[in-house]
Amino acid sequence: MLDAQNAFVAFDRVQKSYDGENLVVKDLNLSMPKGEFLTMLGPSGSGKTTCLMMLAGFETATHGDITLDGVSINNIPPHKRGIGMVFQNYALFPHMTVAENLSFPLEVRKMGKSTREEKVKRALDMVQMGDFAGRRPAQLSGGQQQRIALARALVFEPELVLMDEPLGALDKQLRETLQFEITNLAHELGITTVYVTHDQTEALTMSDRVAVFDDGRIQQLAPPDELYEKPQNSFVAQFIGENNTLEGVIQEIKGDTCIVKLDSGDTIDALPVNVAEVGERTKVSIRPERVEFNRDRLHADAHTLKAEVLEFIYMGDIFRTRLRVAGTDEFVIKTRNAPDQARLVPGEMIEIGWMPQDCRALDA
Ligand SMILES: Nc1ncnc2c1ncn2[C@@H]1O[C@H](COP(=O)(O)OP(=O)(O)OP(=O)(O)O)[C@@H](O)[C@H]1O
Ligand SMILES: [Mg+2]
Repeated sequence: MLDAQNAFVAFDRVQKSYDGENLVVKDLNLSMPKGEFLTMLGPSGSGKTTCLMMLAGFETATHGDITLDGVSINNIPPHKRGIGMVFQNYALFPHMTVAENLSFPLEVRKMGKSTREEKVKRALDMVQMGDFAGRRPAQLSGGQQQRIALARALVFEPELVLMDEPLGALDKQLRETLQFEITNLAHELGITTVYVTHDQTEALTMSDRVAVFDDGRIQQLAPPDELYEKPQNSFVAQFIGENNTLEGVIQEIKGDTCIVKLDSGDTIDALPVNVAEVGERTKVSIRPERVEFNRDRLHADAHTLKAEVLEFIYMGDIFRTRLRVAGTDEFVIKTRNAPDQARLVPGEMIEIGWMPQDCRALDA
Protein backbone atom coordinates (compact mmCIF):
# COMPACT_ATOMS: atom_id res chain seq x y z
CA MET A 1 0.00 0.00 0.00
CA LEU A 2 1.37 3.36 -1.05
CA ASP A 3 1.31 5.91 1.75
CA ALA A 4 3.16 9.12 2.54
CA GLN A 5 6.10 7.14 3.98
CA ASN A 6 7.03 5.04 0.96
CA ALA A 7 5.73 7.32 -1.80
CA PHE A 8 8.17 9.26 -3.98
CA VAL A 9 6.06 12.42 -3.85
CA ALA A 10 3.52 12.93 -1.09
CA PHE A 11 1.22 15.75 -0.02
CA ASP A 12 0.02 15.11 3.50
CA ARG A 13 -2.95 17.23 4.66
CA VAL A 14 -1.60 20.23 2.79
CA GLN A 15 -3.37 23.57 2.97
CA LYS A 16 -2.41 26.84 1.36
CA SER A 17 -3.61 30.37 1.93
CA TYR A 18 -2.03 33.40 0.30
CA ASP A 19 -3.86 35.98 2.40
CA GLY A 20 -4.11 34.16 5.73
CA GLU A 21 -7.86 33.87 5.29
CA ASN A 22 -9.01 31.95 2.21
CA LEU A 23 -7.73 28.45 1.62
CA VAL A 24 -6.95 27.93 -2.06
CA VAL A 25 -5.72 24.40 -1.32
CA LYS A 26 -7.76 22.52 1.23
CA ASP A 27 -6.59 19.38 2.95
CA LEU A 28 -4.72 17.87 0.03
CA ASN A 29 -3.59 14.27 0.30
CA LEU A 30 -1.74 12.70 -2.60
CA SER A 31 0.86 9.95 -2.87
CA MET A 32 2.77 9.19 -6.05
CA PRO A 33 5.03 6.18 -6.68
CA LYS A 34 8.31 6.69 -8.50
CA GLY A 35 7.91 6.85 -12.28
CA GLU A 36 4.26 7.81 -12.24
CA PHE A 37 2.82 10.34 -14.71
CA LEU A 38 0.17 12.21 -12.78
CA THR A 39 -1.96 15.03 -14.14
CA MET A 40 -3.69 17.72 -12.14
CA LEU A 41 -6.79 18.67 -14.10
CA GLY A 42 -9.32 21.29 -13.10
CA PRO A 43 -10.96 24.62 -13.85
CA SER A 44 -9.16 27.94 -13.59
CA GLY A 45 -8.38 28.95 -10.03
CA SER A 46 -8.82 25.46 -8.57
CA GLY A 47 -5.30 25.40 -7.08
CA LYS A 48 -3.25 23.39 -9.58
CA THR A 49 -0.38 25.84 -10.09
CA THR A 50 -0.28 26.53 -6.37
CA CYS A 51 0.30 22.82 -5.72
CA LEU A 52 3.08 22.72 -8.29
CA MET A 53 4.70 25.83 -6.82
CA MET A 54 4.68 24.31 -3.35
CA LEU A 55 6.25 21.14 -4.68
CA ALA A 56 8.90 23.15 -6.54
CA GLY A 57 9.63 25.18 -3.41
CA PHE A 58 8.53 28.59 -4.72
CA GLU A 59 5.64 28.66 -2.25
CA THR A 60 5.38 27.15 1.20
CA ALA A 61 2.40 25.21 2.50
CA THR A 62 0.40 26.99 5.19
CA HIS A 63 -0.29 23.64 6.85
CA GLY A 64 0.69 20.01 6.31
CA ASP A 65 3.76 18.42 4.85
CA ILE A 66 5.14 17.68 1.38
CA THR A 67 7.74 14.95 1.10
CA LEU A 68 10.10 13.96 -1.68
CA ASP A 69 11.46 10.44 -1.39
CA GLY A 70 10.40 10.37 2.26
CA VAL A 71 12.09 13.64 3.19
CA SER A 72 10.12 16.79 3.98
CA ILE A 73 10.95 19.28 1.21
CA ASN A 74 11.23 22.08 3.75
CA ASN A 75 14.58 20.49 4.59
CA ILE A 76 15.85 20.39 1.00
CA PRO A 77 17.01 23.62 -0.65
CA PRO A 78 15.30 24.10 -4.07
CA HIS A 79 18.45 23.52 -6.15
CA LYS A 80 19.01 20.17 -4.41
CA ARG A 81 15.50 18.90 -5.10
CA GLY A 82 16.49 17.68 -8.55
CA ILE A 83 13.28 18.98 -10.06
CA GLY A 84 12.97 19.86 -13.74
CA MET A 85 10.33 22.39 -14.69
CA VAL A 86 8.48 23.42 -17.84
CA PHE A 87 5.96 26.21 -17.89
CA GLN A 88 3.55 27.58 -20.42
CA ASN A 89 5.69 30.56 -21.40
CA TYR A 90 8.84 28.79 -22.35
CA ALA A 91 11.16 31.21 -20.52
CA LEU A 92 14.26 30.28 -22.49
CA PHE A 93 17.08 32.79 -22.06
CA PRO A 94 16.76 34.95 -25.20
CA HIS A 95 20.42 36.02 -25.35
CA MET A 96 21.72 32.44 -25.24
CA THR A 97 21.80 29.87 -28.01
CA VAL A 98 19.84 26.66 -27.67
CA ALA A 99 22.98 24.80 -26.56
CA GLU A 100 23.81 27.49 -24.00
CA ASN A 101 20.27 27.36 -22.65
CA LEU A 102 20.61 23.63 -22.11
CA SER A 103 24.09 23.86 -20.72
CA PHE A 104 23.05 26.39 -18.09
CA PRO A 105 21.42 24.00 -15.56
CA LEU A 106 24.51 21.80 -15.88
CA GLU A 107 26.89 24.69 -15.18
CA VAL A 108 24.82 25.53 -12.12
CA ARG A 109 25.44 21.95 -11.03
CA LYS A 110 29.15 22.42 -11.61
CA MET A 111 29.55 19.82 -14.35
CA GLY A 112 32.66 19.85 -16.50
CA LYS A 113 32.69 21.03 -20.14
CA SER A 114 32.87 17.64 -21.85
CA THR A 115 30.10 16.17 -19.66
CA ARG A 116 27.97 19.22 -20.42
CA GLU A 117 28.49 18.93 -24.16
CA GLU A 118 27.63 15.27 -24.14
CA LYS A 119 24.46 15.74 -22.07
CA VAL A 120 23.31 18.72 -24.15
CA LYS A 121 23.73 16.74 -27.34
CA ARG A 122 21.79 13.80 -25.95
CA ALA A 123 18.95 16.01 -24.69
CA LEU A 124 18.67 17.77 -28.05
CA ASP A 125 18.62 14.48 -29.92
CA MET A 126 15.92 13.26 -27.57
CA VAL A 127 13.57 16.04 -28.71
CA GLN A 128 14.82 15.82 -32.31
CA MET A 129 16.37 19.26 -32.24
CA GLY A 130 20.01 18.26 -32.73
CA ASP A 131 20.44 20.57 -35.72
CA PHE A 132 19.32 23.69 -33.85
CA ALA A 133 22.02 23.93 -31.17
CA GLY A 134 23.44 27.22 -32.48
CA ARG A 135 20.14 29.09 -32.89
CA ARG A 136 18.69 31.62 -30.51
CA PRO A 137 15.12 31.13 -29.15
CA ALA A 138 13.77 33.97 -31.32
CA GLN A 139 14.86 32.01 -34.41
CA LEU A 140 12.67 29.02 -33.48
CA SER A 141 8.95 28.33 -33.87
CA GLY A 142 6.75 28.06 -30.79
CA GLY A 143 6.77 24.28 -30.90
CA GLN A 144 10.53 24.16 -31.34
CA GLN A 145 11.01 26.49 -28.38
CA GLN A 146 8.75 24.25 -26.36
CA ARG A 147 10.86 21.24 -27.24
CA ILE A 148 13.96 23.09 -26.11
CA ALA A 149 12.23 23.99 -22.85
CA LEU A 150 11.43 20.32 -22.42
CA ALA A 151 15.01 19.30 -23.20
CA ARG A 152 16.28 21.86 -20.72
CA ALA A 153 14.02 20.45 -18.00
CA LEU A 154 15.34 16.94 -18.69
CA VAL A 155 19.01 17.65 -19.44
CA PHE A 156 20.22 17.24 -15.88
CA GLU A 157 18.30 13.98 -15.55
CA PRO A 158 15.91 15.04 -12.81
CA GLU A 159 13.95 12.41 -10.93
CA LEU A 160 10.91 14.67 -10.85
CA VAL A 161 9.58 16.93 -13.60
CA LEU A 162 6.83 19.50 -13.11
CA MET A 163 4.98 20.83 -16.13
CA ASP A 164 2.39 23.58 -15.95
CA GLU A 165 0.31 23.75 -19.12
CA PRO A 166 3.41 23.39 -21.26
CA LEU A 167 1.44 22.92 -24.49
CA GLY A 168 -1.26 25.52 -23.94
CA ALA A 169 0.01 27.96 -26.56
CA LEU A 170 0.48 25.44 -29.36
CA ASP A 171 -1.79 24.38 -32.20
CA LYS A 172 -3.71 21.14 -31.98
CA GLN A 173 -1.46 19.04 -34.20
CA LEU A 174 1.78 20.07 -32.52
CA ARG A 175 0.16 19.64 -29.13
CA GLU A 176 -0.76 16.06 -29.97
CA THR A 177 2.74 15.26 -31.24
CA LEU A 178 4.35 16.70 -28.12
CA GLN A 179 1.86 14.97 -25.80
CA PHE A 180 3.03 11.72 -27.24
CA GLU A 181 6.73 12.67 -27.04
CA ILE A 182 6.50 13.86 -23.45
CA THR A 183 4.83 10.72 -22.14
CA ASN A 184 7.23 8.51 -24.10
CA LEU A 185 10.27 10.32 -22.76
CA ALA A 186 8.98 10.32 -19.19
CA HIS A 187 8.30 6.60 -19.31
CA GLU A 188 11.56 5.78 -21.09
CA LEU A 189 13.65 7.73 -18.61
CA GLY A 190 11.61 6.58 -15.60
CA ILE A 191 10.89 10.17 -14.63
CA THR A 192 8.15 10.97 -12.14
CA THR A 193 5.99 13.69 -13.65
CA VAL A 194 3.37 16.07 -12.31
CA TYR A 195 1.59 17.65 -15.24
CA VAL A 196 -0.96 20.43 -15.05
CA THR A 197 -3.59 21.11 -17.68
CA HIS A 198 -7.20 22.11 -18.02
CA ASP A 199 -7.53 20.16 -21.22
CA GLN A 200 -9.34 16.97 -20.31
CA THR A 201 -8.39 15.08 -23.46
CA GLU A 202 -4.75 15.80 -22.78
CA ALA A 203 -5.16 14.57 -19.22
CA LEU A 204 -6.90 11.37 -20.26
CA THR A 205 -4.46 10.48 -23.03
CA MET A 206 -1.21 11.22 -21.22
CA SER A 207 -1.61 10.15 -17.62
CA ASP A 208 -1.24 7.09 -15.44
CA ARG A 209 -3.56 8.83 -13.00
CA VAL A 210 -5.50 12.07 -13.04
CA ALA A 211 -6.32 14.22 -10.01
CA VAL A 212 -9.45 16.26 -10.75
CA PHE A 213 -9.29 19.53 -8.85
CA ASP A 214 -12.12 21.83 -7.94
CA ASP A 215 -12.14 24.56 -5.37
CA GLY A 216 -8.82 23.59 -3.80
CA ARG A 217 -9.73 19.94 -3.35
CA ILE A 218 -9.08 16.75 -5.25
CA GLN A 219 -12.54 15.62 -6.28
CA GLN A 220 -11.31 12.29 -7.62
CA LEU A 221 -7.96 10.66 -8.17
CA ALA A 222 -8.02 7.73 -10.56
CA PRO A 223 -6.67 6.25 -13.81
CA PRO A 224 -8.26 7.83 -16.93
CA ASP A 225 -10.66 4.98 -17.69
CA GLU A 226 -11.95 4.85 -14.14
CA LEU A 227 -12.45 8.59 -14.09
CA TYR A 228 -14.49 8.42 -17.26
CA GLU A 229 -16.43 5.27 -16.48
CA LYS A 230 -16.87 5.73 -12.75
CA PRO A 231 -17.10 9.37 -11.75
CA GLN A 232 -17.59 9.60 -8.00
CA ASN A 233 -19.53 12.86 -7.91
CA SER A 234 -21.46 15.12 -10.21
CA PHE A 235 -18.58 17.58 -10.63
CA VAL A 236 -16.32 14.90 -12.08
CA ALA A 237 -19.14 13.48 -14.20
CA GLN A 238 -19.74 16.92 -15.72
CA PHE A 239 -16.11 17.90 -16.07
CA ILE A 240 -14.79 14.79 -17.81
CA GLY A 241 -16.34 14.14 -21.18
CA GLU A 242 -19.92 14.76 -22.13
CA ASN A 243 -22.71 13.70 -19.82
CA ASN A 244 -26.48 13.85 -19.61
CA THR A 245 -27.90 14.88 -16.27
CA LEU A 246 -31.42 14.25 -15.00
CA GLU A 247 -32.60 15.26 -11.55
CA GLY A 248 -34.98 13.55 -9.18
CA VAL A 249 -35.54 11.87 -5.84
CA ILE A 250 -34.40 8.44 -4.68
CA GLN A 251 -37.49 6.28 -4.38
CA GLU A 252 -36.00 2.93 -3.50
CA ILE A 253 -32.53 1.45 -2.94
CA LYS A 254 -32.11 -2.30 -3.34
CA GLY A 255 -28.57 -3.61 -3.44
CA ASP A 256 -26.67 -2.15 -6.34
CA THR A 257 -29.67 -0.58 -8.02
CA CYS A 258 -31.84 2.32 -7.03
CA ILE A 259 -35.04 3.68 -8.48
CA VAL A 260 -35.10 7.41 -9.07
CA LYS A 261 -38.31 9.35 -9.56
CA LEU A 262 -37.34 12.14 -11.91
CA ASP A 263 -38.79 15.64 -11.57
CA SER A 264 -40.70 14.93 -14.77
CA GLY A 265 -42.54 12.07 -13.00
CA ASP A 266 -40.76 9.28 -14.91
CA THR A 267 -38.96 6.57 -12.96
CA ILE A 268 -35.61 5.11 -13.96
CA ASP A 269 -33.09 2.58 -12.64
CA ALA A 270 -29.65 3.80 -11.62
CA LEU A 271 -26.50 2.74 -9.84
CA PRO A 272 -26.41 4.34 -6.37
CA VAL A 273 -22.87 5.75 -6.33
CA ASN A 274 -23.07 8.72 -4.06
CA VAL A 275 -26.47 8.59 -2.38
CA ALA A 276 -27.38 7.88 1.22
CA GLU A 277 -31.09 7.30 1.63
CA VAL A 278 -34.57 7.18 0.16
CA GLY A 279 -36.13 10.64 -0.22
CA GLU A 280 -32.78 12.31 -0.99
CA ARG A 281 -32.43 14.41 -4.13
CA THR A 282 -29.94 13.15 -6.69
CA LYS A 283 -28.49 13.84 -10.12
CA VAL A 284 -28.25 10.86 -12.42
CA SER A 285 -25.62 11.00 -15.10
CA ILE A 286 -25.53 8.96 -18.30
CA ARG A 287 -22.88 9.07 -21.02
CA PRO A 288 -24.30 9.84 -24.51
CA GLU A 289 -22.75 6.68 -25.96
CA ARG A 290 -24.38 4.44 -23.34
CA VAL A 291 -27.94 5.31 -24.29
CA GLU A 292 -29.72 2.69 -26.37
CA PHE A 293 -32.80 3.28 -28.49
CA ASN A 294 -32.84 0.07 -30.43
CA ARG A 295 -35.49 -2.02 -28.65
CA ASP A 296 -33.76 -5.33 -29.40
CA ARG A 297 -30.62 -4.25 -27.60
CA LEU A 298 -32.37 -2.91 -24.51
CA HIS A 299 -32.12 -4.70 -21.20
CA ALA A 300 -35.39 -6.67 -20.81
CA ASP A 301 -36.58 -5.07 -17.58
CA ALA A 302 -34.86 -1.69 -17.82
CA HIS A 303 -37.08 1.31 -17.40
CA THR A 304 -37.38 3.25 -20.61
CA LEU A 305 -38.19 6.87 -21.35
CA LYS A 306 -40.05 8.46 -24.22
CA ALA A 307 -37.99 10.90 -26.23
CA GLU A 308 -38.58 13.30 -29.08
CA VAL A 309 -35.81 13.77 -31.61
CA LEU A 310 -34.92 17.49 -31.83
CA GLU A 311 -31.75 17.43 -33.90
CA PHE A 312 -29.69 14.87 -35.77
CA ILE A 313 -26.09 15.66 -36.60
CA TYR A 314 -23.97 13.55 -38.91
CA MET A 315 -20.39 13.73 -37.65
CA GLY A 316 -18.71 11.14 -39.82
CA ASP A 317 -17.70 8.42 -37.39
CA ILE A 318 -20.67 9.02 -35.11
CA PHE A 319 -24.20 10.38 -35.15
CA ARG A 320 -25.01 12.92 -32.47
CA THR A 321 -28.70 13.27 -31.70
CA ARG A 322 -30.29 15.80 -29.37
CA LEU A 323 -33.48 14.73 -27.68
CA ARG A 324 -36.26 16.10 -25.52
CA VAL A 325 -36.41 13.73 -22.56
CA ALA A 326 -37.98 14.03 -19.12
CA GLY A 327 -38.25 17.81 -19.22
CA THR A 328 -34.88 18.60 -20.79
CA ASP A 329 -34.10 19.58 -24.38
CA GLU A 330 -30.39 18.95 -23.95
CA PHE A 331 -30.28 15.18 -23.76
CA VAL A 332 -27.66 13.94 -26.20
CA ILE A 333 -27.03 10.47 -27.53
CA LYS A 334 -24.15 9.33 -29.68
CA THR A 335 -24.28 6.33 -31.94
CA ARG A 336 -21.61 4.77 -34.05
CA ASN A 337 -21.99 5.20 -37.80
CA ALA A 338 -22.58 1.59 -38.79
CA PRO A 339 -24.38 0.31 -41.92
CA ASP A 340 -27.33 -0.95 -39.85
CA GLN A 341 -27.61 2.13 -37.63
CA ALA A 342 -30.82 4.06 -38.13
CA ARG A 343 -30.61 7.78 -38.81
CA LEU A 344 -33.14 9.55 -36.63
CA VAL A 345 -35.34 12.33 -37.95
CA PRO A 346 -36.36 15.47 -36.03
CA GLY A 347 -39.92 15.13 -34.75
CA GLU A 348 -39.67 11.36 -34.48
CA MET A 349 -40.72 9.80 -31.14
CA ILE A 350 -38.44 7.06 -29.81
CA GLU A 351 -37.95 5.13 -26.60
CA ILE A 352 -34.57 5.20 -24.92
CA GLY A 353 -33.03 3.13 -22.15
CA TRP A 354 -29.72 2.00 -20.73
CA MET A 355 -28.11 -0.54 -18.49
CA PRO A 356 -28.70 0.52 -14.87
CA GLN A 357 -24.95 0.41 -14.18
CA ASP A 358 -24.38 3.07 -16.87
CA CYS A 359 -26.67 5.50 -15.13
CA ARG A 360 -25.03 6.80 -11.99
CA ALA A 361 -26.91 8.46 -9.15
CA LEU A 362 -24.57 11.06 -7.69
CA ASP A 363 -24.74 13.83 -5.12
CA ALA A 364 -27.48 16.42 -5.71
N1 LIG B 1 0.54 34.70 -5.54
C1 LIG B 1 -0.76 34.69 -5.24
N2 LIG B 1 -1.27 35.55 -4.32
C2 LIG B 1 -2.59 35.52 -4.01
N3 LIG B 1 -3.48 34.66 -4.53
C3 LIG B 1 -3.04 33.80 -5.45
C4 LIG B 1 -1.66 33.75 -5.85
N4 LIG B 1 -1.51 32.78 -6.78
C5 LIG B 1 -2.73 32.24 -6.94
N5 LIG B 1 -3.65 32.84 -6.14
C6 LIG B 1 -5.10 32.48 -6.03
O1 LIG B 1 -5.16 31.12 -5.64
C7 LIG B 1 -6.21 30.44 -6.32
C8 LIG B 1 -5.62 29.22 -7.04
O2 LIG B 1 -4.76 29.69 -8.06
P1 LIG B 1 -3.90 28.71 -8.97
O3 LIG B 1 -2.99 29.56 -9.76
O4 LIG B 1 -3.31 27.65 -8.13
O5 LIG B 1 -5.05 28.09 -9.89
P2 LIG B 1 -4.93 27.14 -11.17
O6 LIG B 1 -5.74 25.93 -10.85
O7 LIG B 1 -3.51 26.95 -11.55
O8 LIG B 1 -5.71 28.00 -12.28
P3 LIG B 1 -5.40 28.17 -13.88
O9 LIG B 1 -6.01 26.96 -14.55
O10 LIG B 1 -6.16 29.43 -14.21
O11 LIG B 1 -3.93 28.29 -14.08
C9 LIG B 1 -6.85 31.46 -7.24
O12 LIG B 1 -8.03 31.93 -6.61
C10 LIG B 1 -5.82 32.55 -7.35
O13 LIG B 1 -6.43 33.81 -7.53
MG1 LIG C 1 -2.36 27.55 -13.22
